[in-house]
Amino acid sequence: MPSNIGNPEERRRSFSWSDARKELGFPEDSHNIGWYCSDRICDLGMGEKTALVWETADGRVARFTFNDLRVYSNAYAKHLSGLGLRPGDRVAVFLERVPELYIGMLGGMKAGLIMQPLFSAFGEDALEKRISNAETSAILTCRKLTFRVRKIRERCPSLRHVIVCDPGDLSFQEGEAAFGLETAKPVESFACYPAEPETPSILHYTSGTTGMPKGALHVHGSLPAQALTSKWVLDIKDEDIYWCTADPGWVTGTSYGIIGPWALGATQYVLEAGFIIDRWYRAIQDQKITVWYSAPTAIRMLMKEGEAKAKQYDLSSLRHLCSVGEPLNPEAVVWSERVYGLPFHDTWWQTETGCIQVTNVPGMEIRPGSMGKAFPGVTAAVLAHDFTEICEPNKQGLLALKPPWPSMFRTYWRNPSAYESKFKNGWYLTGDRARIDEDGFYWFMGRDDDVINTAGHLVGPFEIESALLEHEAVAESAAIGKPDPVNMEVVKAFVALKAGFEPSRKLEMSIMNFIRKKLSPLAMPQEIEFVEKLPKTRSGKIMRRVLRAQELGQEVGDLSTLDDN
Ligand code: WT7
Repeated sequence: MPSNIGNPEERRRSFSWSDARKELGFPEDSHNIGWYCSDRICDLGMGEKTALVWETADGRVARFTFNDLRVYSNAYAKHLSGLGLRPGDRVAVFLERVPELYIGMLGGMKAGLIMQPLFSAFGEDALEKRISNAETSAILTCRKLTFRVRKIRERCPSLRHVIVCDPGDLSFQEGEAAFGLETAKPVESFACYPAEPETPSILHYTSGTTGMPKGALHVHGSLPAQALTSKWVLDIKDEDIYWCTADPGWVTGTSYGIIGPWALGATQYVLEAGFIIDRWYRAIQDQKITVWYSAPTAIRMLMKEGEAKAKQYDLSSLRHLCSVGEPLNPEAVVWSERVYGLPFHDTWWQTETGCIQVTNVPGMEIRPGSMGKAFPGVTAAVLAHDFTEICEPNKQGLLALKPPWPSMFRTYWRNPSAYESKFKNGWYLTGDRARIDEDGFYWFMGRDDDVINTAGHLVGPFEIESALLEHEAVAESAAIGKPDPVNMEVVKAFVALKAGFEPSRKLEMSIMNFIRKKLSPLAMPQEIEFVEKLPKTRSGKIMRRVLRAQELGQEVGDLSTLDDN
């Protein structure tokens, strides 16, 4: 079967982003993402096609057609507008992977609201920081998570509406009300907000080295880039059953778990449950998944379980595999080729880029361990520290992209200076280091900052350190990423205790649990080392790089700024 992209080299030579809408057959005068993902597909005569195959945590399967997406996203749009929410208001989505999440996101965008996806695993601090920063007006949630939302209501005065999709016998407090698919009435027509390409659509919070997580603001005009990369990189075709394993709390789960595939009219499978090897393989077998977009940590866990496990299932429906979020080790590519008969195609991108930028597309040679080449229309480079391009092959530098492209973030919410600091000398700086080989393949070398990547999720050390300081025993702390064979990195915290506290296993557990509840299980340190004091610069900044080097048994490097008193 020929791939959608055709000849990648030819595309790279001749394609530019201004051709994207034409390439996709998108009308020039409509931009609302919610409309593209539902109404337009119905207008094309595919209203009865399955849009969503949803498998519940306890193994039941429900199907939604594109017409269902259309009338129920209309219902959400109407309901949210009826509450007095206006275009540009922020609406958080704090849900597990239930249909209300997916359909609610489309409905909110139809009404011109800015949708703010939040991981259901977020603890109260993580939730509060993001909601206060965005001055979010409403939150879509479920009964179970309502109790966590209640804990932050007082500290988040902007949050006027808590919309619970499955209230059961919950007795509502002020501002809480029910709305969900069990009871919503289909709405035949809703006049979508006439979004322009620059109309904000989604606000995704992401971690940096310094300060609290920043909200990367995306716009409706991102769609052609998300749809075209879904078509050319994920190679999604009409008859595919596509599975993106990412949660929409993460940008992969929105760009490629909602927007891109549905704008192409693709059937998507969603598994409410998390990673359980047998359930994953059974899903591929029973649902006849053809295109699978996953992440290196999951692949490494599948590898650990071994070939024999894979052979217990009929995985022959699989046709195309892609991966994102962390370096895809060469062994994983070789293993998947041997066991599934198909290599994983690495894709590199970020919350800020909104769509895949550097990648292996169908039909090109895969060099295991390499991220591939720049997507057609993308100009990437590695830069020296003076932000000029390094032209010599294989020399490591800062991975940078030439703006603009349709799906790039437009700002960090209420933090324009952080946004501007990402641009130098006409380039967008990604914060990653890479090299380009003599044939133009990109190789990921590491991050250029202190951000921790655990199982593909970025966690900011500053957010962890701030939360640690709230523990009664902690005087000072530093968080680093410690290499881990499965998760790539796990969080390790160095902690200096306040007077009167002694290191103990019990205290270690107490601190770990404190972070798990406040932030999330991913941010929880897997290891805590009690220290007398932390290495700091003379200006008092913790030198995480010293701790990291000590941890890895590496040269510590230049210590001239270290305060050794
Ligand atoms: C950071 C972005 C894009 C959705 C997922 C994460 C790392 C991402 C790869 C890859 C090596 C990768 C980078 C990047 N990363 N993909 N294929 N190989 N590293 O979005 O949370 O904004 O994280 O994840 O460090 O900058 P994000």
